[in-house]
Amino acid sequence: MAHAIEQEIDLDVVREMLSHLKPRDFQEAQELILAALQEINEHFGYVSLPAAELVAEHLDTTVNRVYGLLTFYADFRTQPRGRHFMLLCNGMSCYVMGAQRLAQELKDRWGIEDGETTADGELTVQIANVCLGVCDKAPVVELDHDSHGDLTVERLNEVLQRAIAAGGGWAAHGGHEDGHGANDHHSR
Ligand code: FES
Repeated sequence: MAHAIEQEIDLDVVREMLSHLKPRDFQEAQELILAALQEINEHFGYVSLPAAELVAEHLDTTVNRVYGLLTFYADFRTQPRGRHFMLLCNGMSCYVMGAQRLAQELKDRWGIEDGETTADGELTVQIANVCLGVCDKAPVVELDHDSHGDLTVERLNEVLQRAIAAGGGWAAHGGHEDGHGANDHHSR
C-alpha cells in the first residue's frame, strides 16, 4: 500500500534560498522561476504548495504558473520522496528490453506504481519516459543517482534490497540532481 510521507518543507530555508535570487526586472524574474524550483526540488526532494507559493510571491508571478511548471517537467515532484529514489527508464530501448516487467514487479512485490512511495517510506519510484542515456545496458534504473543496468526482475530486487539494507538514500548524495534536469517534460 503506497502513501505519501508526512514531511514538511522548512519555509525559512526556502526564503533563504530565494533571497539569493534578485531579478532586476519582470523578465528576469520569469527566467528565475525554474532555477528556484530546481533548487528547492534538489534540496528537499520535492516542492510543496507553500514552497511554490513563496516562489510565486518572490518572483512576482502566480501560483498557477509555478504549479504549471512543476507538473510539466518530469524531474519535479510535488510529493515527498522516500529515503531511496529510483528512476525507472521506460525509453524505447528499455521498453523493448523489459522495463514493463520491472514496473510490474514494483507493483506486485513492492506495492508501488509511478510516482508512489512504499508504505514504510523507503522507496519512491518514478517512471522516466525519456532515455537515461545508457541504452546499451537496457533495461536500466537509476537509484539514488547510481545507474544499474542489464536488469532482470531478480537483479532489481537485489539492488533494492541492498540499497535499503545499506541505509543512505538520495539525500545522502546531497540531494543532488544530475543530467536529466528540468528539460525532460512529461510525455505521459
Ligand atoms: S532507453 Fe533506457 S537508457 Fe536509453
